Amino acid sequence: MMKARMTINGKAVNLSFEADEHLLHTLRNNGYTEVKNGCEEGECGACLVLLNGKPVNSCLIFTASVTGDEITTVKGIGDLHAPAIIQEAFVDCGAVQCGFCTPGMVLASYALLRDNPDPDESEIKEALTGNLCRCTGYVKIIEAVQCAAQRLQNRKKP
Ligand code: FES
Ligand code: FES
Repeated sequence: MMKARMTINGKAVNLSFEADEHLLHTLRNNGYTEVKNGCEEGECGACLVLLNGKPVNSCLIFTASVTGDEITTVKGIGDLHAPAIIQEAFVDCGAVQCGFCTPGMVLASYALLRDNPDPDESEIKEALTGNLCRCTGYVKIIEAVQCAAQRLQNRKKP
């Protein structure tokens, strides 16, 4: 077993893990079950987290390589009581069905809007290209990202 300190959702934590363990499993073993296990091969985006702000598939990252780093799961950007605009938009636009892809979709969208507050449809599709959804057909997800972008822009207006 190895031990390391990292920051998860703004909180410093000490975690134990096997030398060859992937971050997906370390997170889920420690209660961060909002990080979903889909394919474990980097193909579906269900396990996506932000690593130092950048979207990564946690099933491909060795936990030992992220000691001291900052990790954000979908619960780190907002919760039921104080949802992020992108989380609200997913609900309002009906972009959540079974919900399995949602944490990864929301985080990928969140990172997109942070870097590009006014993305066009092709930029949204590009940002979500690594995230698979079996349920929605993607239309409502794209609408949710557009809706969040609009709300973020309105919020900035005086
Ligand atoms: S579980 Fe990581 S990409 Fe599918
Ligand atoms: S809502 Fe079911 S996989 Fe996307």
